[in-house]
Amino acid sequence: MSADDNKKAAAQAALQHVTPGSVVGIGTGSTANHFIDLLAGIRHKIDGAVASSEVSAQRLRGHGIQVLDLNSVDDLPLYVDGADESNHNLQLIKGGGGALTREKIVAAVAGKFVCIADGSKLVDVLGSFPLPVEVIPMARSYVARQIVGLGGNPMWRDGFVTDNGNLILDVHNLEIMEAAKMEERLNNITGVVTNGLFARRPADVLILGTDDGVKVME
Ligand code: 5RP
Repeated sequence: MSADDNKKAAAQAALQHVTPGSVVGIGTGSTANHFIDLLAGIRHKIDGAVASSEVSAQRLRGHGIQVLDLNSVDDLPLYVDGADESNHNLQLIKGGGGALTREKIVAAVAGKFVCIADGSKLVDVLGSFPLPVEVIPMARSYVARQIVGLGGNPMWRDGFVTDNGNLILDVHNLEIMEAAKMEERLNNITGVVTNGLFARRPADVLILGTDDGVKVME
């Protein structure tokens, strides 16, 4: 089985978390894309979706699924999204696709966050995957210097602009032992919009597609 087959298997397993007659929060990336494509098969059973990125919104609309503004949604029981890394406490690194801020907002609102990924994303310690940090453009150099002070090596994702009009610094060489503290510390740097650590609001369920079948952690 390829990594993509495993992503699709995880997405398929997440469908059972969808409550008929509800709005579904949808993430961004290749695993979330599988979920969107599968959700299309039950689109008549849901009231619509909230998307964490413009690209996911477009894909949802392409399937005839109504995309709603988060501000107009009273109840969002479920958010389904991928991740770049997860530890065994279901704390995540996200934002490889640059959608981390909207992803974090939708995850914050959702009653349940179901993370879907292929088995390679499960790690003991977060930080091998460079941690994305969304930054207000004029603060880029200042934020980068502050991150160096924390022991990280920030690399500007040159040429990439987020859906919010901001920049991304990918921070290498961080061994993240205390994820919630690191999340807070980075978010306290003036000019940071948010960072890709989902530790204060981790996933509630992690569904991993592996060569030995689908594994679920809660
Ligand atoms: C996008 C994300 C994605 O969930 C993450 O990058 C995983 O992507 P993929 O499903 O393609 O492996 O956080 O900002």
